[in-house]
Amino acid sequence: MKSAKTTADNQAFLNISQIDMVFPTDTGGFTALKDVDLKINKGEFISLIGHSGCGKSTVLNIVAGLYQATKGGVLLKNKEVNEPGPERAVVFQNHSLLPWLTSYQNVELAVKQVFNKIMSNAEMKDWIEHNLNLVHMGHAMHKRPDEISGGMKQRIGIARALAMQPEVLLMDEPFGALDALTRAHMQDSLMEIQSELNNTVIMITHDVDEAVLLSDRIVMMTNGPEATIGEILDVKLERPRSRLSLAKNLEYNRLRSEVLTFLYEKQRKVESFNGKTSVSPVVNQKRVNEN
Ligand SMILES: Nc1ncnc2c1ncn2[C@@H]1O[C@H](COP(=O)(O)OP(=O)(O)O)[C@@H](O)[C@H]1O
Ligand SMILES: [Mg+2]
Repeated sequence: MKSAKTTADNQAFLNISQIDMVFPTDTGGFTALKDVDLKINKGEFISLIGHSGCGKSTVLNIVAGLYQATKGGVLLKNKEVNEPGPERAVVFQNHSLLPWLTSYQNVELAVKQVFNKIMSNAEMKDWIEHNLNLVHMGHAMHKRPDEISGGMKQRIGIARALAMQPEVLLMDEPFGALDALTRAHMQDSLMEIQSELNNTVIMITHDVDEAVLLSDRIVMMTNGPEATIGEILDVKLERPRSRLSLAKNLEYNRLRSEVLTFLYEKQRKVESFNGKTSVSPVVNQKRVNEN
């Protein structure tokens, strides 16, 4: 079981420090994030949850080094993050494979970037195939992105990120486009890999069950503009976790209902369509199945 880890602020492995993000728009600056502050320990699994448009991807992009915060910043092992780096692999929401390369070659590119001087060619080939098999894509490794489905592309993106053995794994709704069975398999694999390698993970999700199953802490964001961290929920369920035994676990269900209460009562988001109002769907949203 993972123990609760407490670290002094200045020693945090990953320190997201008082971030503001203002996007320039035609009508002036739009303050998407205000005072987002979070210290993350090595090996922690963090889920970011909040309504659509609140700023989750913006936080992730800042940690990835793709966006520069307007105020504040990110420190990884006390070094400022200003650009992307291989120790922080990203799985994007819209899979981002190079269309002219096969699945194998897309993973190979990342593996070469990290392991070129460390692994022999034969070792690299084994490692690439291992990661493709892990996401059940061994059979299609020589197909190009336009020859496979959206869910399959997403799995290649996950294999590519895992194959880099990153210290920090940043995932933006990584399993959103997968069918339920593949999603469950990927969640279980991710838990196994993470407990083996002790990667630090930040995962954005819309799925309350996924957040509780996988996380050490669930970070719940308020609605924007000026979105910030509303509440943080500690998930102290013993590991390894099994979805079946957790279904009847009282603590699991308490945590689940805390997240639901935050999203549906405290941060209830009402959108107006032609004068009618409707609550933004977050749980049990329709999933796009692979086909
Ligand atoms: N490049 C940008 N320029 C202007 N506004 C942006 C930009 N990127 C995001 N935003 C705005 O910032 C807010 C947060 O966006 P985002 O981080 O994508 O939300 P989430 O991932 O939670 O759905 C939204 O209101 C969005 O419209
Ligand atoms: Mg997003």
